[in-house]
Amino acid sequence: MDIKIQQVETSKIESVDFSNLSFGQVFTDHMLVCSYTNGEWESPEIIPYGPMTFEPSARVFHYGQAVFEGMKAYKDDDGDIFLFRPDESIKRLNASSERLAMPALPEEIFHEGLKQLLHLDTEWIKKGFGNSLYLRPFVIATEPAISASPSNDYKFIIICSPAQSYYAGEVRVVVADKFSRAADGGVGYAKAAGNYASQFYPTSLAHKEGYQQIIWTDANTHEYMEEAGTMNIFFRIGDKLITAPTNDRILDGITRKSIIQLAKDNNIDIEVRNIKVSEIREAAEKGELKELFGSGTAAVVNPIKGFKHKDFTYELPELESTYASFFKEKLMNIQYNKSEDVHGWRVKV
Ligand code: COI
Repeated sequence: MDIKIQQVETSKIESVDFSNLSFGQVFTDHMLVCSYTNGEWESPEIIPYGPMTFEPSARVFHYGQAVFEGMKAYKDDDGDIFLFRPDESIKRLNASSERLAMPALPEEIFHEGLKQLLHLDTEWIKKGFGNSLYLRPFVIATEPAISASPSNDYKFIIICSPAQSYYAGEVRVVVADKFSRAADGGVGYAKAAGNYASQFYPTSLAHKEGYQQIIWTDANTHEYMEEAGTMNIFFRIGDKLITAPTNDRILDGITRKSIIQLAKDNNIDIEVRNIKVSEIREAAEKGELKELFGSGTAAVVNPIKGFKHKDFTYELPELESTYASFFKEKLMNIQYNKSEDVHGWRVKV
């Protein structure tokens, strides 16, 4: 596939402190840009990362026609580059686009664009467990027109940011009992930009009380646990692991489905079913709630130290060995080419 490449004159990599990265603050030298116009996707280009020009009337600014993916590139000890389940990402990007009346992106542009971009910015992918290059493919509506209808023009862009952990400190969550993230028939399952914007205000209220995230509950009754917005959520009661089934309100997380598979592979009792908030409170009160953790590309597997629901607060026990660290290690061993990959999730680029 023909991808025109315009390289930077001087890389900025020397100015980056790779041992001290805050998530999503630094971007690599290049980005991929592909335009959709007159009903088709044009040839992509790789150009220096930098500002782009859009008219203020571009539809994305007014109606939020924007979808994205989160992926990571990993390097093994030999310097080979790997992606984790990239087929799932392009499938989900196109499912998100369909929901927002945006055109599907040909898979070849996605895969070949990632490959060429990663080889060009390979120095930005550092070896070593925990180091990765976070990839943000996204599609935005660029047509300069403000009638409330789908855009005729779009841009598909991939930017890359060297990353270590997503959360800098301990994570505690509030279980939602007023605000909602998604409703039946809505866009909750899509990685639509607006799904994230709508969480910022309730999450800022949670921050004021010392909690970093919200576990969203179903919008109708607030009785069932759903997801945490930046992560899917797992509960461990005794030795049983439970996570909510995906539906049109919950993101079909790639890390989530990988953990479910790994649990099955390792004979861990896993139930994918609706989880009542009251069940989790009762398990906590009886001392049976052992773990609560989130999963996602950026966060990988992140233990949650405590939660609050209305006037009930609970701190999770400190355990010697946790499912969270078990799954994190299993996943990272696959991602960094350190263990066998029986499901064919790891893709060398
Ligand atoms: C990811 O985990 O890649 C996501 O897209 C979540 C985002 C809020 C960082």
